[in-house]
Amino acid sequence: MSLRVVPTISRFRACRNNPISRPHLKIASARTSSYTVALHPTPHRAAPHPTPTMAPIPKTMSGIVIDEPGGVEALKWKTDIPVPELKEGDVLIKNEFIGVNYIDTYFRTGLYKAPLPLITGREAAGTVVAAHPSVTDFKEGDRVTYLDHHAYAQLTAVAASKVLRLPDGLASDLAAASMLQGLTALTLIREAAGIGSNLGVSEGPWALVHAAAGGVGSQLVQMLAARGVKVIGTAGSADKCELARKLGAKWVVNSRDGDLVGRVKEITSGNGVDVIFDGVGKATFDSDLEMVARKGTVVMFGNASGPVPPVDLLKLGAKNIKLMRPTLFNYLVTREELETNTNELFDLLLSGKVTVDVHKVYPLKEVGQAHSDLEGRKTTGKLLLKP
Ligand SMILES: NC(=O)c1ccc[n+]([C@@H]2O[C@H](COP(=O)([O-])OP(=O)(O)OC[C@H]3O[C@@H](n4cnc5c(N)ncnc54)[C@H](OP(=O)(O)O)[C@@H]3O)[C@@H](O)[C@H]2O)c1
Repeated sequence: MSLRVVPTISRFRACRNNPISRPHLKIASARTSSYTVALHPTPHRAAPHPTPTMAPIPKTMSGIVIDEPGGVEALKWKTDIPVPELKEGDVLIKNEFIGVNYIDTYFRTGLYKAPLPLITGREAAGTVVAAHPSVTDFKEGDRVTYLDHHAYAQLTAVAASKVLRLPDGLASDLAAASMLQGLTALTLIREAAGIGSNLGVSEGPWALVHAAAGGVGSQLVQMLAARGVKVIGTAGSADKCELARKLGAKWVVNSRDGDLVGRVKEITSGNGVDVIFDGVGKATFDSDLEMVARKGTVVMFGNASGPVPPVDLLKLGAKNIKLMRPTLFNYLVTREELETNTNELFDLLLSGKVTVDVHKVYPLKEVGQAHSDLEGRKTTGKLLLKP
């Protein structure tokens, strides 16, 4: 099932407080603000949330625990996990929707290290159900989203400094579906590739986006196309290619058909592309160096096919190539960076300029299936978990 989550302008205008007309993510005197309106996840239907009545916090909760790294069998469903205690500055969030990201598979396999046992999961959206007495910015009932750790559970304790209030009109499924991958696309385009928003539509540079129908890829394609960049998308099936085209890639190449390098050279009249966004990694890195134009940039940002082995830097000199290996979390270190980028993303979502295709919402208990589908290249867009 593919659920298209698109906030329409009419949905957005139905809100009492227009989020575009105010800095909706600034945290300020939230204890005095009221818990107002959110739109129902079903497109075109606005339903006011009732004032929440908070149930007592339980002592234990359900969630997914990794005791030892491994395959999907390492993701253990447990029903007796102690509810995390709040430290100074923390809020406790009841997760409504949890985003699945490729990075979750790296923590599961042990490619990325974390202390064990581990509750993985880097993003979710939900409701604040408790706050440490030191927290003045959030109160029970606030609709929020976050990028942090330990999201694969019913409840997650998060430092308030990493929590963002959801603007009216932004449903929690859309927030959980867009935060990590949308912010990755936004920061990679602006910070890593240095592509601004004021390019002439016909003058834009060439960009190649690998896995253009995937989570990050589909966001990259839309944001690049909106900036006037000439986008070539690669994808692993005819259906995925069609989706990438609909999202804004004027040229698409099926990556399983062979001779990607030849096709890209042909499309760009032999010059190659100015920038390559590559989340595939090991399988595509060598061909990136062939497809990038002289003085071009390769933004290598992921390991879906495995991490890129150590690189011989002398290879870059052949075309004066700029090579980067950025991570989202190092672009969002300060509160200002987090708020500025998230505000921009929320505006893109609420105005409908960027949409998110949700491939499927899996019960949290079935997260193993979600990981298998993602690693098996069976998905497009976003995978969500429902606790
Ligand atoms: N650096 C950062 O801060 C950052 C942040 C977010 C994500 N990422 C990275 O971005 C990449 C995409 O993440 P995502 O969550 O959006 O996943 P995704 O793109 O939805 O899924 C991965 C896609 O990669 C393609 N792929 C090509 N070869 C593959 C292989 N051998 N194994 C698996 N997949 C392969 C597949 O698309 P096709 O079938 O169309 O080829 C697959 O659907 C990941 O590498 C992730 O680690 C990095």
